[in-house]
Amino acid sequence: MSNVVPIVDDVYWIGVNDRTTELFEAIWPLPDGVSYNSYLIDDDEVAVIDTVKETHIDSYLQNIKDTLGGRHPDYLIINHIEPDHSGAIKAFKEAFPEIQIVGNQKTMNLLEDFYEIEDNHVVVSDRDTIDLGEHQLNFHLTPMVHWPETMMTYEEKTGTLFSGDAFGGFGTLDGGIFDDEVNIKHYESEIRRYYSNIVGKYSPMVQKAISKLSDLEIEIIASTHGPVWRDNPERIISDYDRWSKQEKEKGVVMVYGSMYGNTQKIVEEIARNLATEGIKNIKVYNISKTHVSHIINDIWKYEGLILGSCTYNMGIFPKMDYLLRILENKNIRNHTLGIFGSYSWSGGAVSRLEEFADNLNYEPVNPTVEIKCSATEEDFADCAELAKNVAQQLKE
Ligand code: FEO
Repeated sequence: MSNVVPIVDDVYWIGVNDRTTELFEAIWPLPDGVSYNSYLIDDDEVAVIDTVKETHIDSYLQNIKDTLGGRHPDYLIINHIEPDHSGAIKAFKEAFPEIQIVGNQKTMNLLEDFYEIEDNHVVVSDRDTIDLGEHQLNFHLTPMVHWPETMMTYEEKTGTLFSGDAFGGFGTLDGGIFDDEVNIKHYESEIRRYYSNIVGKYSPMVQKAISKLSDLEIEIIASTHGPVWRDNPERIISDYDRWSKQEKEKGVVMVYGSMYGNTQKIVEEIARNLATEGIKNIKVYNISKTHVSHIINDIWKYEGLILGSCTYNMGIFPKMDYLLRILENKNIRNHTLGIFGSYSWSGGAVSRLEEFADNLNYEPVNPTVEIKCSATEEDFADCAELAKNVAQQLKE
């Protein structure tokens, strides 16, 4: 028995769950796995929308055969060709050699480059339509959400938006497929972790896409990852709108690198003073222990950001440098930033944090705390002052 789930009139979820892969894109941990969602519309002509990662080809093709009996799909729509969704295309075409592969010109270029598939192409432009019989598919090009070729497919009869990566998240679908079938709170953080780490860099393009899709009557959002939104699609659109504007909630994320505990003492002092200043949401992360993807998730969420590091080999602690580079690459915005650091026989940490602030046009909150070897009473007083000033800015 396959794991096919009816979504709405003639529309089926034919995706798979991946509970084996440790790292998405070989970078981002998957403690709760991930789903690769694919969909099938069974009409006079049959369309399949996106495929799955190559690791799941057999069960995926079985899902299609179980849904269609002896019939064959007519169209394969590629909304997004990143290999977590296109890895099964070659096997798909071998199983169904007559399949018409639908995508925009950029999709086709990548299809040839990844898989040497040069025939059966149906090239579509923005707002083109394919008529399946009862169901009509409209194509909306949404470049850079998450790759240049990304587009979304809107099915008119049911108001279903097949959105590619957009509105998706980490976490397998453990029986429940729809937002009203699962405890959506369980998925909230993993959806934002997906957004902040995978799509967030392209937030301006997400804003363009949201604006472009605003005239569609969307009843269901069917992303390539995570739950299908049929009960409350407005909610995930609203979340994406806020996240892509980089709007923040009140709270402070503190991230530090400390080899022997001296820099950590500064962290504890600042955190305690933030609490006495009335800040309730305070998240403290040791960069050596927690994967950056979880830290970035909270940095995307909270307005306050306090970064500190020891010095290592006359530069900043390497793991902190890794985080800074990712944050620079994502062009993070709208934080109240504080910085601190330590050194023993050479500086280096604070100057890199100042460079980070400069690169992203942040003016760090005063004072920048820099200790030599271990903190003095004067240094602790500076920590209290920094916490007070950060808290004050958050309250404004
Ligand atoms: Fe789920 Fe951009 O791939």
